Amino acid sequence: MERALIILKPDAVQRGLVGPILTRLEQRGLKLQGLKLMQVDEALARRHYAEHEGKGFFASLVSYITSAPVVVAVVAGKPGTVEMIRTMVGATNPAKAAPGTIRGDFGVEVGRNLIHASDSPESGERETALFFQAEELIAEWSRVTDPWIYE
Ligand code: RTP
Ligand code: MG
Repeated sequence: MERALIILKPDAVQRGLVGPILTRLEQRGLKLQGLKLMQVDEALARRHYAEHEGKGFFASLVSYITSAPVVVAVVAGKPGTVEMIRTMVGATNPAKAAPGTIRGDFGVEVGRNLIHASDSPESGERETALFFQAEELIAEWSRVTDPWIYE
């Protein structure tokens, strides 16, 4: 199994889009391993987005992600899942994101782009460990629909 950390950013929570966005991931057939509402503090935000430190948008990015509660989820599937989720999420700038993607259907601006999704399986593991304690995750569980989703 491969997994991605998903963050439904403060704008998604404030706009009541937690359900509609999670629904898309569930309906695709992806499996939840963890889910919670939390407030991201500055230290966690800086660690999570460490690759962007020094960029012009870093301060506003940290301020955005810490501004109100977020919903974080760990979503898993067969190899290729991380890339599939990134396709579902759409381009970083919602103004350029394709219709049918989460950002392309719900957003208009890069500073309010609703959702984070890990960009590689390695990021998925790193970010999952940042946001979840091991005991908060259920990594192995069976779903009666599994054989109807995977051949
Ligand atoms: P994310 O990490 O949040 O899933 O987004 P991403 O991979 O599509 O984009 P990334 O390049 O990693 O950028 C992280 C977040 O920083 C904000 N951003 N603002 N003003 C700007 O030019 C700009 N560029 C990026 C966005 O919130 C983006 O999701
Ligand atoms: Mg990114």
